[in-house]
Amino acid sequence: MKQFLSIFLVIFGFFYLNAQKHWQAPEKAKQLQNPLSETAETITKGQKIFQSLCVSCHGKYGTGNPVMLKTLNPPPANLSSPQVQQQTDGEIFWKITEGRGVMASYKNMLSEEDRWAVVKYIRKLGKTPSAMDKKIKTTKSSNEVESFAFSQLINAKTTFIRQTKGFGFGIQHRFGATKFDENMIQNFLGLDLASNIRFSFEIPVSKRLMFEIGRTRYGKFYDIGGKYLIFKQTTDEKYPVSIAFYENIAVTTENAPQYSAQATFADGRKFDYKFYHRLYYDTQLIVSRQFSNKLSAQVTAELVWRNLTPYATKPEEKAYVIAVPLSLRYKTGLKSAIDLEIMPNTHHKTMPISLAYEVASSGNHVFQITLTNSDRILSQNLFFNQTLRYPKDGFMLGFNLVRYF
Ligand code: HEC
Repeated sequence: MKQFLSIFLVIFGFFYLNAQKHWQAPEKAKQLQNPLSETAETITKGQKIFQSLCVSCHGKYGTGNPVMLKTLNPPPANLSSPQVQQQTDGEIFWKITEGRGVMASYKNMLSEEDRWAVVKYIRKLGKTPSAMDKKIKTTKSSNEVESFAFSQLINAKTTFIRQTKGFGFGIQHRFGATKFDENMIQNFLGLDLASNIRFSFEIPVSKRLMFEIGRTRYGKFYDIGGKYLIFKQTTDEKYPVSIAFYENIAVTTENAPQYSAQATFADGRKFDYKFYHRLYYDTQLIVSRQFSNKLSAQVTAELVWRNLTPYATKPEEKAYVIAVPLSLRYKTGLKSAIDLEIMPNTHHKTMPISLAYEVASSGNHVFQITLTNSDRILSQNLFFNQTLRYPKDGFMLGFNLVRYF
């Protein structure tokens, strides 16, 4: 019996000591993928957190604070060592989340995103100090803040311009109007009804300039646009906001309107349908600011112009609309957000108000479920069409999808 007991103790002791030596993350943690990509912004963020919370024990280069190395048992791990660097991002993330012994759990102190950013920074500690210094120097010039993750929110354009090469493909889809009545089930929330759709491509040319082309079903519009980022918000508040200029020209390819040979313009000139009557312009000056990790807001000064107005049938219609769209994005999680857009403007019957829930948004794609009071998408179309009045007239569901390649 005694023999059994001592064998048991030896085995138990062996495992116990071993457990003390090697801090093992569970198999499940190893599989966790880091949702952040290695951008200068992420590294800088990780570095800031590391310097404020971790340096006291792990030292500036992750090799350990000499005093702590002598006094703590076990000593703070050398984060630049192969033993740590060989681990997956998931394992390191799990250890920071859970903690062990004197190393506290950072579950409540740091958001998930912050913890993943620190992991990205710990990767840099694995490199030689000179390589690391270089990286920090290059991140210095880019303390720029990205208020929005995509070049448009629901209908509004944002100050965002994709910072990497490649192109983006987008689909904006709006279903028919529905409301809480017996027809809602029959027409499946409006999904059965006529719907509007815009396909678009966006091409970043530089970190400040992008172009886009699109095709929208209603109005049979083809549009071409460009956006130039004049300032970008920085963390040192040198630029407290981002400002972008946006211009889009759309041409309707719908059949020429039917008009009699006697038709005239309002001023009496003979009416003749020309190509330039098909053109619609949208000019925007966009100002955005990220207020916190979660909240970004944006205000736009917008002028929409059309070359032909239906004056004969609707004398109250004007050739232009001036709008001041307001957009808000509130991140509810690492990959989700709620977006709101309110677009006051000078049109007598139009007040677009839209809400969206962003799911699975990451650096490369976004999917939004939208609730709007208009099925128009392009500003050139949106601001000249009457919107539904909530909740009396109901609402329209839809989705936006963007994917960068
Ligand atoms: C109070 C001192 C202390 C602070 C502060 C601290 N750590 Fe630790 N850390 C330790 C010690 C001690 C260990 C070894 C724990 C063990 O093996 O039981 C450790 C281990 C780790 C490990 C596991 C390495 C391995 O061996 O796999 C990681 C990763 C880590 N720390 C990251 C961090 C990060 C990131 C921060 C800041 C957010 C931080 N630590 C703050 C003391 C500290």
